[in-house]
Amino acid sequence: MILILFGPPGAGKGTQAKLLSDYLKIPHISTGDILRQHVKDGSLLGKKAKAYMDKGELVPDALVTDMIFERMQRPDANKGFILDGYPRNLSQAEALDKNIKDKNSRIDLALYFQTSKDIIVKRLSGRRVCRKCGRNYHLVNMPPKKDMICDDCGAELYQREDDKEETVINRLNVYLKQSTPVLDYYKKQNKLQTINSDFAAEVVFKVIEDILGARKSAGSKK
Ligand code: AP5
Repeated sequence: MILILFGPPGAGKGTQAKLLSDYLKIPHISTGDILRQHVKDGSLLGKKAKAYMDKGELVPDALVTDMIFERMQRPDANKGFILDGYPRNLSQAEALDKNIKDKNSRIDLALYFQTSKDIIVKRLSGRRVCRKCGRNYHLVNMPPKKDMICDDCGAELYQREDDKEETVINRLNVYLKQSTPVLDYYKKQNKLQTINSDFAAEVVFKVIEDILGARKSAGSKK
């Protein structure tokens, strides 16, 4: 199964991708996570990407596309994967289609996480991330058991540079201008499923589980 999780910053794509990855036993491939790892490692790609990421701009397609295609062809992604943060504009969507068709595979579903600006701002301003394992928390909605310490690995939590208010506003504008045309792209292909992601994470996950279950039973009746 190939799933695309699409939506504005802070809509909950990463949170649901992790739950879905455990549920479907396929990897969660996040362009944001891979880019942040490159920045942390100080690689050439990370150095080039950092300036764009800090401003909330898209990293140029040429840097992101090769990086994601290389990840998609690793053995753990043989049975499918969940893409979070890619594609983010029309040229990425077209490049992805071509790459997947060349492998005689297909995208099953694009899940669109719809949410309001107020919720986005609250979620991003309260997000804290583990410096070591990358697990996401929220100061109010999903706090760690110990203040600013990761429940899983005990490392310190931090606020992402691009979660500061001015950058969040730019990320939203970039999303509206460059990413929303991707919605129509998948709608025309009959692959878009909209999810109201204003609800609690467990509720959103249940909705996705039901959508996947309904698709599976429709598929088995054909
Ligand atoms: P990326 O890391 O992909 O950021 P994003 O798309 O802006 O998404 P976020 O990670 O901010 O939000 P999310 O929807 O995953 O929400 P989350 O689950 O964490 O990209 C970062 C940058 O990398 C980009 O700006 C760009 O520069 C670059 N980049 C990445 N991909 C690129 C590409 N393809 N091309 C070019 N450049 C690219 O949740 C947010 C918070 O809310 C968390 O605190 C969470 O705990 C909480 N939360 C989640 N769900 C709920 C819920 N249902 N109820 C209550 N709280 C919730």
